[in-house]
Amino acid sequence: MKRDFLTLKDWSTDELKSMIQTAIRLKAENKNGITHHHLAGKKLAMIFEKPSTRTRVSFEVGMYELGGHALYLSSDDIQLGRGETVKDTARTLSRFVDGIMIRTKGHDIIEELAENADVPVINGLTDDFHPCQVMADVQTIYEHMNTFDVKVAYIGDGNNMAQSWLYGAAKFGMDISVASPENYECDPAVVKSAVEAAKQTGAKIELCRDPFDAVKNADIIYTDVWASMGQESEKEERKKIFAGYQVNKKLMEATGRKTLFMHCLPAYMGLEVTEDVYESDISIVWDEAENRLHAQKAVMLKVMGS
Ligand code: CP
Ligand code: NVA
Repeated sequence: MKRDFLTLKDWSTDELKSMIQTAIRLKAENKNGITHHHLAGKKLAMIFEKPSTRTRVSFEVGMYELGGHALYLSSDDIQLGRGETVKDTARTLSRFVDGIMIRTKGHDIIEELAENADVPVINGLTDDFHPCQVMADVQTIYEHMNTFDVKVAYIGDGNNMAQSWLYGAAKFGMDISVASPENYECDPAVVKSAVEAAKQTGAKIELCRDPFDAVKNADIIYTDVWASMGQESEKEERKKIFAGYQVNKKLMEATGRKTLFMHCLPAYMGLEVTEDVYESDISIVWDEAENRLHAQKAVMLKVMGS
């Protein structure tokens, strides 16, 4: 039976922790020039309905380093963009490739793709979830702190990153506090399901309004853009609504402990984060970006490896 990687909710804590350990091992081997062609001869189709730098490059380089091949398919260039159905796209690609990675809009689209594909489907970001990013984030936290026993404060929009982090925290047993403005909170159904999942690990999940409440005792302060891809027309309005949710020195210092800064990138200086935090030595965003490669190799091995 194929397994898809659509959200972290569908995977057990043991499976996810084991993928993180694989990612760390693959990274160390990679640094020592050791390569393993674990996916020799395998093909990954990568469908992009939104732009990408990190996701596109890390999946393509990851497949190359594992001995396989990745095909970049912009939705503008394939028949999906001209109205061919998701179902037919899934059935066609399944005859050619061993896995499909997709960055799309509604999460229902990836679910439909996965339902109709005979090969594993990996989520490269939907409007609701970005689980590969959280795998890289967790790997980065583990490398820096040597434990999963941390508190993450997520400041800003209750978007795909915040929602993925709710499941990430629940599954890895991390405490999380999400501070968002009114009407920009995470989907209550996702919160409920993450709280349920957290019972297995004892993770504490908290939602609040005031960023200064969220960051108390936080080991990590995490943020994301105020206007996600597809929300460009709301940019100016969101600048006003999120003005009190900027991660700056004052907020970083309000944790009462040594706290690291994380961001999935791309980042916008002077909006969700100030340059003095972003460029300081407490910012681990470049390790985080690099780990997309290693964490996704572990995910691909898990779902596409033989
Ligand atoms: N963080 C992330 O997914 O980056 P890209 O949009 O560049 O892929
Ligand atoms: N929330 C952002 C994440 C980008 C990686 C977006 O969806 O645009």
